[in-house]
Formats: sequence, structure tokens, C-alpha cells
Amino acid sequence: MIGTDVTKAANLLSQGKLVAIPTETVYGLAANGLNPEAIAEIYRVKNRPNFNPLILHVPHIEAAKKYVTHFPIEAEKLAHHFWPGSLSILLPKSAIVPDIITAGSSHVVLRIPNHPITLNLLNQIDFPLAAPSANISNTVSPTSAKHVDEGFSNQIEYILDGGNSTIGIESTIVSIENGNVQILREGGISQEFIAQKTGFNISSEPTKTIQTPGQLKKHYSTQKPLYLVESIIDFLKENPKKNCSVLYYEYHDYPSEHTYYLSENYNLSEIANRLFTTMRLADKDASDCIIIENIKQEGIGRAISDRLNRAKSNLE
Ligand code: TXA
Ligand code: MG
Repeated sequence: MIGTDVTKAANLLSQGKLVAIPTETVYGLAANGLNPEAIAEIYRVKNRPNFNPLILHVPHIEAAKKYVTHFPIEAEKLAHHFWPGSLSILLPKSAIVPDIITAGSSHVVLRIPNHPITLNLLNQIDFPLAAPSANISNTVSPTSAKHVDEGFSNQIEYILDGGNSTIGIESTIVSIENGNVQILREGGISQEFIAQKTGFNISSEPTKTIQTPGQLKKHYSTQKPLYLVESIIDFLKENPKKNCSVLYYEYHDYPSEHTYYLSENYNLSEIANRLFTTMRLADKDASDCIIIENIKQEGIGRAISDRLNRAKSNLE
């Protein structure tokens, strides 16, 4: 059932049930983050491998500090600038965080989402929310209550409707090691923006010591093959028999039959905002495949590129 009753959502979560929640990035499939049985249900319903840990969502910094053994000065600065918001921080977990959240790791990822309804919910309950994106594993992440409903139909009792996610792409995940802030997953807040606000020298080279086990190579897939190409014009010339939907980053003079504009003028925020919805639309139209060009590697273009590279199929 889809609705806007925060008290109902809070009650269900308190009883150990799953509730889908809106966030500014994507919708999450939430459970009481201190209740291992409820969390196990997330893995089951999502068909998520048990080695892929979950993000813990909290209402404010004081709450975040309860779930870590150490909140370094760099985390203070990041939280000051970006919380609530699309930044998730990996920190050493305290003993009260169940191992099932972190898939056995000594570190937990924390975030304060920037969505008024979910912040209201988090403030009504006395536990944090474990929540991955509210999609079946290996499908496109949901950016509306309707998307969640399409994926799970009757499997979750309540979907809290908070409208369309405004960012449209998952949060950026960072780690902090010996004062170095590193990007573990590109997302809604760009590396450049973090550096600009904090003055940190951000590295995107993954460390050897900290892994993001959930960063599976193939992810976010559409049902139809999605081809990530250098040039749409060349692709159409070389593959005249293919009937593909075309996703453009800017206005184009020669639209083909199934054409979608992610932006009219290559605006990266707009592209991120429309990407998952458009992938879903193209998946349902009468075409046989989807084509999209490589995106520029700057700002959140890197996060978009990451998602497209995990979604793509190879041309035989
Ligand atoms: O924007 C978001 O981050 C959304 C909303 C709902 O908050 N959540 C989300 O969760 O995208 P999920 O589970 O789809 O992706 C979380 C990623 C996974 O790749 C997972 O492996 C990684 O975060 N992760 C979570 N906890 C971790 C940990 N303790 N150590 C390493 N990686 C972790
Ligand atoms: Mg996900």
C-alpha cells in the first residue's frame, strides 16, 4: 500500500516490518537497524547477497555518533557541510550495530537523508533505519513510490510516498583513513564539490584496505540490452537493423522513433534526476534495446557514468 502516513510507517517499523521510504537520492527499503530479524527480511525480499552491507540512516549527528567508536574531525566537517544530504560516510562501527548490517565488516556506512518526510519519520522512532535502495537486486533503483510498487508489488506492507526523488542517483560514499577522504562510490554529491566545500584533497583511487563489497560489476540493469556507445549516430549507421530507444543528453535534430531527452542542454543534475525514470520508460516501450552515449567525466557525470557502466550490455 502507498500512503503518506508517517505514524503508520513508524508503527510498522517498530513491529519489525519493512517500509519503503523516500529520500532525495532514491527510495530505500527500510527496517529497524537494531533488529537483526527485520534486517534479514531486507536481504530476503530484495534477493540481495548477504555479503553486501547496508547503509544506516539517522536523524542527526548525535545519533550518528552512537553507532561509531570514533567520529573523526574530517567526518565532523563533512557532516557540517553535507548532512542532511547525499553523502554517506564509512566509519568504525560500535558494538550496538548488528553485524548483519555491515555484512561482518568492522565499519558501518552512515547517512542523514535530506527528505522532510523521512527526517520526520527518523525523529519519531528511537532506532536508526537500515535501508538499501528499494529495488530487487540488480534492477534499476526507484525514484518514486510507483517504481517501488512495481518492483515489490505486495511484498512490502507500506510504501511511504514522498514524491519523486530530487537528486535521482544514490548517495556518494566516502571513507576516512588517516585523515584521507576517499570516494568509495560516486553519487549525488561530486568529488569536486566536496573538495571545494571542505578543502580536502579527495582521492577516488580505492584503497587496498577498505573494500566496498557491494560494488558489483553488473548492477542497475534494464531488462533490454543497454548499449553505452561513443557516438549514437555511428551506432545507428553501423546497426541499421537494431530498433533501439535513444537517450540523449541534449536536444538533437534527428530524433529516432523512441527518443528521450535526459536534458535539453547537457545539464548533469537534470540528467541524474531523469536517468532511472527514463531507463524504466525505455525498458517498457516497443523498442528492443537502449542506446546512450558515454557521458563527460566531470562532477556528477562520474556517478552517472558509473551507473551506466554497470548497466551496460556488450554488443555481440
Ligand atoms: O542514496 C543512497 O545511498 C540510497 C538511499 C536509500 O540512502 N541507498 C543505497 O543503498 O544506495 P544500497 O544498499 O543500494 O547501496 C549501498 C552501497 C552498497 O554498494 C554497499 O556495498 C555499500 O554501500 N556499503 C554499505 N555499507 C558498507 C560497509 N560497511 N562497507 C563497505 N561498503 C558498504
Ligand atoms: Mg542499490
